[in-house]
Order: sequence, then C-alpha cells, then structure tokens
Amino acid sequence: MQTDNSPATSVVIIGGGQAGLEAAAALRTQGFAGRVTLICEEAQAPYQRPPLSKDYLHGKQEADRLPLRAPAFFENQNIELLLNTSATKIDRAARTVELRKDVSNGQLLPFDYLILAMGARNRPLPIEGAGRAVYLRSLPEAQALRERMPNATSVAVIGGGFIGLEAAAAARHYGKAVSVIETLPRLMARAVSPVVSQFFLDLHTKNGVNVLLPAAAVALDDGGVALTDGRHVPADLVIAGIGVIPETSLARDAGLAVGNGIVVDEFLRTVDEFLQMNDPRIFAIGDCAQHPNCFSQTGAVRLESVQNAIDQAKCAARGIIAAGKGLESPPYADVPWFWTDQFDVRFQMAGLSAGHDQQVLRGSVEDGKFSLFYFKNGQLIAADSVNRLTDHIGVRKLLGARRSITEEQAADPNLDLRKL
Ligand code: APR
Repeated sequence: MQTDNSPATSVVIIGGGQAGLEAAAALRTQGFAGRVTLICEEAQAPYQRPPLSKDYLHGKQEADRLPLRAPAFFENQNIELLLNTSATKIDRAARTVELRKDVSNGQLLPFDYLILAMGARNRPLPIEGAGRAVYLRSLPEAQALRERMPNATSVAVIGGGFIGLEAAAAARHYGKAVSVIETLPRLMARAVSPVVSQFFLDLHTKNGVNVLLPAAAVALDDGGVALTDGRHVPADLVIAGIGVIPETSLARDAGLAVGNGIVVDEFLRTVDEFLQMNDPRIFAIGDCAQHPNCFSQTGAVRLESVQNAIDQAKCAARGIIAAGKGLESPPYADVPWFWTDQFDVRFQMAGLSAGHDQQVLRGSVEDGKFSLFYFKNGQLIAADSVNRLTDHIGVRKLLGARRSITEEQAADPNLDLRKL
C-alpha cells in the first residue's frame, strides 16, 4: 500500500474527450513514467469537437483531420487507450475503477490517481416527438447531420446558443430555409451581453435566418415544429442544440460532491460529499468539473471550452506528479477564453464577464468590428470581440498578467493592447 506521498505508478483517466486526452499527454510531457490508461466510451480515438459544428459540417474539413493525435501517439507514449469502454463504478477505498461488464467481464482497473474527464451529454428535448430531432455534439451525430443536410429543404434549429447558431449558419451555407427557435428573449444569453446578442440576431437575420424569439416548441411532427403560441415552423430536418448536462453520476455514486458539475477545489481535486474534504487521489477536469476560478466574479463555475479542457488537464497532471513527490503544485489559474464562428464573423471571449458593473465599447457594431470590455469595480474582467483578434489577444495577455486598463484605453480603437 502506498502512502499518500509515494510516487504514483498508475493514473486512470475516465473520458476520451479533449480534457482526458490532454491529461494523458500532459502526464507524459511532464515526465510521468508510470502506467496511463485512458478509458474512452466512444468508438473513435479522441477528436476535436469544435469543427463538428463549423468546418466539418460545412464540408470544408474531413473526418480524417479531426483526431487530436495520430494513432502512433498512443503507442509511442505508452498510453493505453481503451475504446468502446465505459467505467461503471469507482471504488475510492480500494482505488479501482470497474469497467462495463459486457465488454470486460467487470474488470477492475487499479489506480493511484484518477482523473474524471467525462464531459457532458446533450440536454434532451423535453417535448412530444423529440425523437425526430438530431443533435450535434459527437462525431457520429455530426456525420449523420452532414449526410442529411444536403437533402433537407427546410431546417429548424431549436436553441439559439452556440451550437444552434453555428448549425443555422451551416444550413444557410447549404442554401436551406432556416429557422431558429429560442425560448429566451435574446440569443446566446447564457454567455454574452445584450449588445452582442443583438449583433448576432442582426447577423443571422441579414443572412436569411428566420429567428423566432422568445418562442417555445411544444411538439415535433412530420411537417416540422409546433410552437406553444399555435404557430407551426415547417422543417424536414430539426436540429436540437439546447445545452448540455455534465456527466456526474459516477462521481455522485462514489460519494463525491456534485453541484453544477463535479465539485473540485482550486487544485482540481474532488471533494468528499460528507466530509467536505478533498480526495487527493481523484481529480475532475473539463466540461464535467465545477471549479473555483480566480477570474470569476460569481463563484465557482463550470466551463465548456477547449481552453479549459487543455489547461485543467495540464494542471491536474502537474498536481499528480507533485503529490507523488510530496509537493503541492500551483492552483488552477488560467485565463478563460472561447470562440465561435458564424457566417463571416469570428467572435472571441476572454475572461468571464458575468458580474460586471460597467461595459465599454471599442469600434463599431454597425461595421461588424468591435469589442466590448467588461469592468468590475474599475478593473477589467473580460472582453468580447467581434472580428477584432488583436483586442482578444491583448485582453488575454492583460488578464494573464493580472493587469487592468482604464475605460479610456478600452475605448481607444487605435491602442494595441498587446503592446501594453
Ligand atoms: N427550446 C428552445 N431553446 C431552448 C430550449 C428549448 N426547449 N431549452 C434551452 N434553450 C436554449 C437556451 O436558452 C440557450 O440559449 O438553448 C440554448 C443553448 O445554448 P448553450 O447553453 O450555449 O448550449 P449549446 O449551444 O447546446 O452548446 C453546448 O457545446 O460546443 C459547446 O460551446 C458549446 O458550451 C457549448 C456546448
């Protein structure tokens, strides 16, 4: 039996999305020489998700460009990749993970450290006839949608968030009649401010998308989508993008704390539900983890982004290697950022804007080239940029260096923030 400070000889990672893959890679990059096992429920080796609703769906990128690493990587790095395999139980006392019985006879995988990187699943449409809708999160879902798209006449998208709007832009690219049905009064309301929501409403409308909001679907039928107000949206293809639900059940069943995701501390270590103490052997990262974030003004957050997956993977790997040496590694402190592509617009977010008390505009919304800077108590906390890459990069640098700017500097379109 190892003490808590003995070097780890095995790390098991549950989840073959970007966070899980990057954790395996980071362990090796950082010099971990023990056994690394990556349990991947999907049939495909880990692949990029962002292009699925962008270039892949548009037909500009093929599936062979999606894998995050070449097949040889796993062999060269001595990472055991278990495809088509799901974990069914975590035994924290015995430090084992049980694999699904029908594929492994209930094999138990021992671990010194465990990383939960189980991601999130599509929120299912809660309405009659929901089985007619298609979703867009996994490669098989994107493949099915890409096959159906050219034959569709009219497309209805339920959900005016990132996935829904990217799917709507792709459907317009194929020349389809497209409607977006969103329950809230504005688009992407979860993540952006009203100015940005309005910009995207105008962008989609200008590009021929029929945006219905606030509007709620009540049923799907042969002809399309019935709305609660009696209207009917014709569609022979219905795409649902109404958000995701973090995968937390394995953690909950193992007695770990779960809120809006698996609760972790600033080192990304999970927390025992009853003792409210960290479990130093089990980390959670990526879409499934609710973590304290030093850039958040609103408490712990759960972030669904590539940046968060990669940086948390590196942080957990550092923590595991340091713990094996009896050391503590630095807490998670990377600047959040995110992007979406819709029509000819690249929209980028840096920092976390929730909780701001002041916003400053730079550039011109009408010209489709602007940034919105968010302040709290006079300190810069975030910026959203439409087609202004240099602002986005500048704000990431400033936030990373824990530096602020004045509102005058924020408003000056000629000031290159990267040079401050
Ligand atoms: N009908 C219509 N709209 C709905 C309904 C419903 N029944 N339920 C929710 N919505 C709306 C929400 O109001 C929200 O605007 O769906 C939208 C979902 O948007 P997001 O939460 O951004 O989720 P989604 O677009 O599905 O993206 C999921 O995948 O690629 C990532 O970054 C992306 O984090 C995002 C995740």
